[in-house]
Amino acid sequence: MRLSQYFLPTLRETPSEAQIISHRLMLRAGMIRQSASGIYTWLPLGLRVLKKIEQIVREEQDRAGAIEMLMPTIQSADLWRESGRYDDYGLEMLRIKDRHDRDLLYGPTNEELITDIFRSSLKSYKDLPINLYHIQWKFRDEIRPRFGVMRGREFLMKDAYSFDIDVNGARHSYHQMFVAYLRTFSRLGLRAIPMAADAGPIGGDMSHEFVILADTGESQVFCHKDLVDMDPPGDDVDYNADLSGLIDERIKLYAATDDKHDQATFEAEVPEDRRLSARGIEVGHIFYFGTKYSKSMGATVTGPDGASITVEMGSYGIGVSRLVAAIIEASHDESGIIWPESVAPFMIGLINLKPGDAGSDRSCADLYQRFQNAGIDVLYDDTAERAGAKFSTMDLIGLPWQIIIGPRGLKKGVVEIKHRATGEREELSPDAAVNKFAAPGE
Ligand SMILES: Nc1ncnc2c1ncn2[C@@H]1O[C@H](COP(=O)(O)OP(=O)(O)O)[C@@H](O)[C@H]1O
Ligand SMILES: [Mg+2]
Repeated sequence: MRLSQYFLPTLRETPSEAQIISHRLMLRAGMIRQSASGIYTWLPLGLRVLKKIEQIVREEQDRAGAIEMLMPTIQSADLWRESGRYDDYGLEMLRIKDRHDRDLLYGPTNEELITDIFRSSLKSYKDLPINLYHIQWKFRDEIRPRFGVMRGREFLMKDAYSFDIDVNGARHSYHQMFVAYLRTFSRLGLRAIPMAADAGPIGGDMSHEFVILADTGESQVFCHKDLVDMDPPGDDVDYNADLSGLIDERIKLYAATDDKHDQATFEAEVPEDRRLSARGIEVGHIFYFGTKYSKSMGATVTGPDGASITVEMGSYGIGVSRLVAAIIEASHDESGIIWPESVAPFMIGLINLKPGDAGSDRSCADLYQRFQNAGIDVLYDDTAERAGAKFSTMDLIGLPWQIIIGPRGLKKGVVEIKHRATGEREELSPDAAVNKFAAPGE
């Protein structure tokens, strides 16, 4: 993409309404624009990151055996009356009436809708287990939307729903999502710690929030420091095998959100020098809730002996749009964002120091073309801005690599490469620069 032809409305000044760094940087980098309180437009640069995150989430859900579909944002109130939540959900639910005076709502979550789909299509124990997910916008009329997309009213969530014939099956489905989450967040460049969370009326140990440590986090969390350094399960993880070993290794170490925290247990179980008490951002939440919806809505299957079984369910959320902000909270410096390569909007920022200089123009155009041929996303700053401004913009938007080309370097036969995260620079011939990112021959 040529910057001269792109839509990147960056801001020089720090917007005064933004209280946390990720919100400030997202506005300054031209990633989002507020359209109403807690409701945002995703501008081109922000959308690229959102889509990259969404794709990683999708790949890891698929790998774990979940099946993607897409449910609508607008739902019928009648389903929610069946579960009893139409009245219980309260003011966070955005209620709508259509022209026939029928009650609709903008979905804050999808347990009712998915249970309805399940009960109308799946009838036998042989259809189970099954885990269905979608990545769809939600609306919650939050009393205090704040921190940009971190706590919005409209936000993008991946929500999966598992159906099993018994508690053991449900536990396995839960474990599959647990492992998928560890892998997902790690691919996003994050260390997310699974923490025991409030399990609601069902109780038990099958509710975990996945939390990123950050000073600006909204929750207070407590955990064993060893959890911070644990590597995620590798590519070879077998989702059909018993995963409880992988899970136990982690949940045996103390980790709890504020609601679940017990100071005495924390002190008894964790040596003083391994105790971590910090602020955290909830990026995912997995939850087993048994027959809460299947019972009230009549989601049953026929068992092997012909008897009717009320299915056991769990739900598994990831805050996709929140993750954009969470990654920035975890990865930035005083000059701007530092994107992990896996979610970067472009891999390389190509800076032409002297547009109009024939040699610089030619060399930039050549590299730009070759990277495009190799399938590498490049943002090419071909504008007439002065060099200093180009450098600040590139640092601000945080692309992992910068390639800087000007007459002085070209005279020596080199271009400069800067690594955004470390600030390290090297000079390479244009060919070597291409080969550094694209396998030779491509
Ligand atoms: N208002 C919001 N803005 C952005 N992301 C949200 C918001 N509410 C929830 N999320 C994300 O969706 C995930 C699943 O939501 P859920 O656990 O149902 O929400 P909550 O914990 O707020 O009740 C959360 O872990 C979080 O990452
Ligand atoms: Mg939650």
